[in-house]
This record gives sequence, structure tokens and C-alpha cells, in this order.
Amino acid sequence: MLDAPQPASVTTALLPRPPMPTRERSQVEAFLVLRRNPLELWGAAAYEQDILGGRFLGREQLMLNSPEAIRHVLVANHENYGRNIGARRVLQPLLGRGLFLADGAAWRHQRRTIAPAMSPRTMPVLSRHVVAAARHTEAELDRLIGQPIVLMPHLQHLALQIAGQSMFSLEMAGFGAELRALVVEYARRFAQPGALDLLLPIAIPSPLDLGRGAFRADWLRFIDRLIDARAAQAPAEGGPRDLLDMLAAARDPATGAGFGRAQLRDEVATMILAGHETTAVTLFWACYIAARLPDQQDRLAAEAATADLSEDNAADALRSLPAIRAHVDEALRLYPPAFLIVREALAPDVIAGRRVAAGTVVSVSPWVLHRHRKLWDDPDRFDAERFMPGAIPPDRYSYMPFGAGPRICVGAQFALTEAVLVLARLLRSFRISFAGRGAVMPRGFVTTQPDRPVHFVLERRP
Ligand code: HEM
Repeated sequence: MLDAPQPASVTTALLPRPPMPTRERSQVEAFLVLRRNPLELWGAAAYEQDILGGRFLGREQLMLNSPEAIRHVLVANHENYGRNIGARRVLQPLLGRGLFLADGAAWRHQRRTIAPAMSPRTMPVLSRHVVAAARHTEAELDRLIGQPIVLMPHLQHLALQIAGQSMFSLEMAGFGAELRALVVEYARRFAQPGALDLLLPIAIPSPLDLGRGAFRADWLRFIDRLIDARAAQAPAEGGPRDLLDMLAAARDPATGAGFGRAQLRDEVATMILAGHETTAVTLFWACYIAARLPDQQDRLAAEAATADLSEDNAADALRSLPAIRAHVDEALRLYPPAFLIVREALAPDVIAGRRVAAGTVVSVSPWVLHRHRKLWDDPDRFDAERFMPGAIPPDRYSYMPFGAGPRICVGAQFALTEAVLVLARLLRSFRISFAGRGAVMPRGFVTTQPDRPVHFVLERRP
């Protein structure tokens, strides 16, 4: 039977997604779904129409799927669209006035200071930290070979270690567990907006705000300890050694003022938090898909095996990992960690011919956009070929896991470098098999998470 046709290798699949509602929901039902899993909110129309309008809890809402409308809000007239009340209430206790929540002149100054530390120029230094931390995780996983393990906590610790080490030269071993415990507690108690969070003006504290305020005091004490631990290290000789040195040295070009201690705390908290959970879930979905598609996984492992993934050469190796990069890009399409980007109109405007009143909540959902019927062929199918060199790249405003415009993710390059290198190292060392039962559903809970702890079994690759 030498001539019998071999089965084509399977590198694409329809992966599970939450069901779509089949009828219009009442406001109360929609609110309950929002708390349970926002990814279940949108019906078929959302994946077909250019713009969806409606009212929710007394406010006008618009969701944009048309590239032209998205460009208008996030780029052309971005100054008219600020962060919404829900995001401010939920994130302010953790991120304070750091880059994510800042606006106006303060935002411009912070962005100018932080962006250079995240630019492609700094990726070789980052790659070293990524490889060093990944080595450590590989050794840890090596001890768990052959038994069912929940991979996510390993990926979260890895991403946290990389964030702390590369941005703040901090060994996170002494802080990682406490930081994760604080974040998990906050997420459980305060991250989901209550009805009053969305209804009350920001100046009036909601019941949840009171608990959030108390949490902030503990949180700031923790971040202070991080900064003190760093201050106890020998000072930098010559130029800045990392982001913290750059922040400490920065002066506002207009006023000459530096970042005070309070601002430094918010910046450290913002960069560590924004930088690690999103990357950890990206790695989770990339591993999960690889486990569901063993042929695809073998192909990626073969590519990784040919690359030099050592500390000295990892930055250069990125160029020789196009299939792994395409796998990550496609995982970010189907499971975008930031599933909803929300703004609030500050003044009346017109978006794609529609009048928009001040106060309208305008959103772009990468989750919906990336599965939109008009923008993608066979949108629910995983197919990394879409992102391989030579494929026609997607429209700028149809694919935006990192957002777009002046507030595009400042860590996008960082995240992609980290995800590609870590995945390459993991797949080169291990064959990852899914050991759970049933479909793993994505759930929107701060980021796009798996709906439960997912077990995998690792084998050592020859
Ligand atoms: C796969 C990983 C990541 C994803 C999917 C992601 C996604 C995003 C998105 C969609 C935005 C724009 C939000 C908006 O317009 O409202 C954003 C902003 C931001 N991200 Fe990321 N991010 C990731 C990794 C990182 C990393 C590694 C860092 C830090 C090292 C970071 C720091 C930030 C900050 C500070 C902002 C706010 C920027 C500003 O407002 O100027 N992110 N991110």
C-alpha cells in the first residue's frame, strides 16, 4: 500500500466558541450575561453588521465593525473619545494615573517616556530575559513530565517574571506569589462592574468603589515594597538599565517636572499588570491550539528545532520562526486577550454618517471584529496560513489585538517577541497534549480566559 494517499496533515480546525443568543435579550438578561461571559453577549447580527446601536442601562451604545468608523474613533478624532466610566472605576484602584488611564498632556508625557523602552531597539535585551525565564519554566515543567498539569499558572508566573525582570530588573521570586494573590482577589471581588458602577457618575462612589478604595491602600504598600527592593540594588552606571531608570530620569519637556513617587508607583503597577496577564493568556491559547492540532504542533516544533534559541541569539532567531509567529497571530485573532476596547464620546460627533451624542459609549470588540463574516473567510476556523509570509495581510482595522491609533498597546512588540520565543522554546522541548475532556470555552473575564483550569500532559521531544 505504498502508493495509498497519505492523509493530509491537519493544521486548521473549527475551535469551540460560546453559543450566540438566538433572540433579543432584556436589559436584565444582558446585564447578567455581561457578568457571566461577555463573549456570549453578541448575536449573529453583530458578526455581520458594520455598526450596531442600542441603549444599555440608560446610555447610548455603538459597536463598530467598519474599518472606516474604527479609524475615525481610534485615530482621526481620538481626542474626542476617552476611557469610559466602567473602565475607570474598575482599573483606577490598580493602575491609578499610570499610562493606561492617563489622558491629555499627562498621557503624552508618559507615553513619550515609556515608548522608547518598548521599541524594537530594546528587543535583544528583552529576548535575553525571556530566554532566561523560559529556561527556568522548562526545568520546572520537565519535573512534571507525563502527569496531567494545569499549564496556566506556569505561564502566568513566567510572564510575570519576564515583566518584572525586563522592565524593572526585579527578581519576582520574592513578590510573584503575593502579586498574583492580590490580583486574583481583586479580580474576584471587584473586576466585574456592578449596575451602580455603570449608572452612577464617576464622582459618586458606588458600593463596590468603597471596597476598591480599601484594596488600593494594600496594593500601593505592595508596589512600594517592590520599588524599595529595586532601590536597594546598586545604582545604574552609565545609561539607564531599564524602564524604571528611564522613568526616574524623565522630565516633562513643558514643565521640567519628573515623575514623583506616587506616579512611579502607578506606572510600575500599570506596566506589570498590563504586561503579564495578557501575554500569559496568549501563550495559553497558542499552546491549547497546538495541543488540539498535533500536525500543526509538529510543524512548529520542527521550525523551532532549527533556530538558535539561546540568550545570545534569540532576538535574531525571531526572523527564522515565521510559522510560530503566524500561529501566535492567528491565536490572537481567535482569542484576543483584550476582547473589548471601550471609549466614551466627550463631545457630539458624527461616526460614519451617524450622529453621536456626548456620553455615548463607543466600543470596538476585537473578539467580534476578528470573527466578522464580512471581513474574514471562514472566520471561526483556525488557519495560521492567513498570517504566513506571502499571504495577503488583513486590513489594518479588521485585525487589532493590540488596538490602533495613538493609544495602541505600548507593549505590542514586547508581547509578540515574548510569545513567539516562549512558544518556540516550549514546543522544541515538549510535545503538549490536551488531557481534559470536552470543549474549552473562552470566557471574557478581564482578559479572554479559558472557562476552567485546563489539563495538559507534556512529553519530552527527542
Ligand atoms: C498579547 C499581549 C497584549 C495584548 C493583547 C494587549 C492589548 C492591548 C490593547 C488592545 C490596548 C489598547 C487599549 C485601548 O485602546 O483602549 C493596550 C494598551 C496598553 N498596553 Fe497592552 N497588550 C498586551 C501586552 C502588553 C504588554 C506586554 C505591556 C507592557 C509591557 C502592555 C502595556 C499596555 C499599556 C501601558 C497600554 C496603554 C497604552 C496607552 O493608553 O497609551 N500591553 N494593550
